[in-house]
Amino acid sequence: MSYRMMSQCLTLLLVFRWALKTAEAQEHRTVGVGSSVLLTALPTDDQTVIDHIQWEYINSTVSDIVDYYRTGSKPTIYKAYEERIIFYSNGSLLLKNVQETDSGTYRATINLNKIEARETTLLVLEPISKTQLQINSTVAGSSIELSCKVLVGKVQAIYWKKDGKPLPRNRCYWFSENFSLLYIPEAQKSDCGSFSCNASSDINWQETSVNLTIEGIMPSLKHALKISTVVLVIATTLAAGSGLGFIILCCQSEKKKITGELWRWPVVFIHGLVCVSAILMFTAAVFWIWEEGLTTALVLYMFFLTWVIMVTLLISVVLAICPQHLGIFKKKTMYCVILDTAALGGVILVVVFAIFLIQNIQQLQRQGCSPFFDSRAATLISAAISLLILLVSFVWYHRKKKSQGKDQQEGQHAEVLQSLNGQSCRTDQPASMVEGTSEPKVNIAE
Ligand SMILES: *[C@@H]1O[C@H](CO)[C@@H](O)[C@H](O)[C@H]1NC(C)=O
Ligand SMILES: *[C@@H]1O[C@H](CO)[C@@H](O)[C@H](O)[C@H]1NC(C)=O
Ligand SMILES: *[C@@H]1O[C@H](CO)[C@@H](O)[C@H](O)[C@H]1NC(C)=O
Ligand SMILES: *[C@@H]1O[C@H](CO)[C@@H](O)[C@H](O)[C@H]1NC(C)=O
Ligand SMILES: *[C@@H]1O[C@H](CO)[C@@H](O)[C@H](O)[C@H]1NC(C)=O
Ligand SMILES: *[C@@H]1O[C@H](CO)[C@@H](O)[C@H](O)[C@H]1NC(C)=O
Repeated sequence: MSYRMMSQCLTLLLVFRWALKTAEAQEHRTVGVGSSVLLTALPTDDQTVIDHIQWEYINSTVSDIVDYYRTGSKPTIYKAYEERIIFYSNGSLLLKNVQETDSGTYRATINLNKIEARETTLLVLEPISKTQLQINSTVAGSSIELSCKVLVGKVQAIYWKKDGKPLPRNRCYWFSENFSLLYIPEAQKSDCGSFSCNASSDINWQETSVNLTIEGIMPSLKHALKISTVVLVIATTLAAGSGLGFIILCCQSEKKKITGELWRWPVVFIHGLVCVSAILMFTAAVFWIWEEGLTTALVLYMFFLTWVIMVTLLISVVLAICPQHLGIFKKKTMYCVILDTAALGGVILVVVFAIFLIQNIQQLQRQGCSPFFDSRAATLISAAISLLILLVSFVWYHRKKKSQGKDQQEGQHAEVLQSLNGQSCRTDQPASMVEGTSEPKVNIAE
């Protein structure tokens, strides 16, 4: 080996050793606000005897922290650091309760050897506070934005996960520049699940998750679905009940046939119920239009529904308060037809639209994964209530019939009728009353 080569090798070795030393002498530390930091003057395996050590803090200016001579007894701690540090005779410095303003470089110079001075760059950060995860929409088909909010702390990275695993690759997601926002375009059923965001910095991390439940329908359509279910039950029970009434009517002998006065209240009740159902269906239609938009057919339907509401309301109110006024309307055939078909037409109108709404809304609901509104439970409850009403009216009717039969036997029929009529306004046209009150019932049964 030539001398030249040897000297080159030696230089390289020296450069390498020097580079290693400087690398050792440079350290970066990141800590959280309020923590205590131990700064060491020497690397762990360095056996250098410390005769003198000087600690300095460098940001834009240089300020002294502590000066220590092994021969002297006490270290000199400068005023700004008196309360905040503990100095150990092995050269280490403990910074207590550090704040963001303590960020900077701390230099330890041992035995006045400036070249091999050890520098520690300290970064004091506010720890990341608990993250908040917000969802701006949950409706199927809409664009959903998940935002990962961090109120305190400098975030370095945000990682998103779905159901505890990295985001699925087969789904397209969009992110904002710093990943704090996650966009889900055209949300669908497969997007249901738990989303979590992990915001991290050099000192800590915080993870929050949220359960994303895609809704097939808006809350208003849920209301429309419930209303339609209830109306459907009321209307079908009403139709069944009226059919039953019609059969009872037919099976009675002419002599036993109950009078118009007795039919008055059931007819008021039926028209009232049809009116209420129509009003409910009107509300459901408004909910549907609100979400799905207006069509000509719907406008037409709402028009007919308004008509039914008005006519049935008129019939039930007039019949309940002053039945003799109904006779005035019954004089013209056209009015007669309108009055008689109101209840039947109303029931058909209401039932058809209720079925349409239930079918369509349930179809929409299947696009999401939110708990399905179980119309069966509602149907059962409503059916039970309606049946109870029917049963009560049936029993009531039976008792009335029995007592009438007795009265007839005792030859007091006329008197009873008299007293019955006396309870309401005087009926000028008893014959027309019977007709007017029982006919809508007959029509419903058809
Ligand atoms: C540098 O440190 C001193 C003492 O802690 C402080 O007063 C000053 O604001 C700091 N300067 C900068 C630029 O951070
Ligand atoms: C210096 O002394 C302190 C307190 O005894 C100890 O915690 C620390 O580890 C020591 N540092 C070194 C470099 O030995
Ligand atoms: C949610 O955010 C996305 C993206 O910014 C936006 O397109 C959508 O309209 C928002 N939805 C709601 C209901 O605000
Ligand atoms: C992300 O960037 C937006 C502005 O572009 C800012 O408002 C928000 O605080 C940032 N979020 C995080 C976690 O850094
Ligand atoms: C959050 O991110 C940090 C930094 O990447 C990681 O160390 C940590 O394990 C993550 N937390 C969870 C729960 O995945
Ligand atoms: C999400 O749903 C799961 C299972 O239904 C539940 O265990 C968890 O607590 C929910 N998480 C949140 C953030 O609501």
